[in-house]
Amino acid sequence: MLPWGSAKGVQSANTGGRPENSGDVPVKVIVLSDVHANIWALDAVLEQEREYDLLCFAGDMIDYGTDPAEVIERFQSCSRAVLVKGNHDGNAVRVFHTEDFRHAPAGQYKWVHHNLERMTGEQAAYIDSLPESAVFQADGWVYLVQHQYRPGSYEVIECRHVFEEHWRRHTPKEYWVAPRRRMVFGHTHRQCVHILGDGMEWLNPGSVSYHRLDDPDKDARYMVITDGSIKMRSLPYPREPLLKETFRQLKAGRMAEQEMRYFFYYFGDAPDFDAPLPDHDSVSG
Ligand SMILES: [Fe+2]
Repeated sequence: MLPWGSAKGVQSANTGGRPENSGDVPVKVIVLSDVHANIWALDAVLEQEREYDLLCFAGDMIDYGTDPAEVIERFQSCSRAVLVKGNHDGNAVRVFHTEDFRHAPAGQYKWVHHNLERMTGEQAAYIDSLPESAVFQADGWVYLVQHQYRPGSYEVIECRHVFEEHWRRHTPKEYWVAPRRRMVFGHTHRQCVHILGDGMEWLNPGSVSYHRLDDPDKDARYMVITDGSIKMRSLPYPREPLLKETFRQLKAGRMAEQEMRYFFYYFGDAPDFDAPLPDHDSVSG
């Protein structure tokens, strides 16, 4: 039988090749990316989607958020998950190993230092152990999961020729002529589905955490794929705890100003990255 011959069920190398829910019923895959240590958004999504057969995560678990240890714990507790590493994850681990991050001087202290101070060495090793690429099958589709198409860029795949090249470079040969192929990317934080041909699609679930400057919506974005059918999801969640930690950093006077400006845009009411920081005198808590 061809490797993609089973129309129903889900199977991945990350589960040791064991079929998960291989019965003749539709499977539900939740697709997440770019959580960025935002436990408040992640918990809202997991509360909303309690029942699923597979969790697919396209990278950037930590950095630019407030609660890295809790986010890592959540992902480690998922038994049915396909997870890959993002560029922020890889950079955080590099900083963890190559720099005395605990002594970043005032004004040069960033969210990555903040996150690393709140993680254990075991958690850094777990992040480092995540693969950069993964393949799984669900309901007759073969999925390739990666954080980004080209390292160091926000480029996307726009034509079938490039899709084909990329697919063959990153999947085992038995999947090269599968009739239904999907790539899952994160990184851009832009929720979308691109259909390049019959059975040739790439998708980005958007960020569970924050959006770009031209997308001021603050909801958590992700996707649910049931029986192969993709649904875009957008979910409000409590952002106050993220702002409270940012105010705490502002009051402490250690973090680089630009890092805090990002947060007051991402999670607060600041209109852009250049908006003045709140007055120190107005800071409480
Ligand atoms: Fe990201």
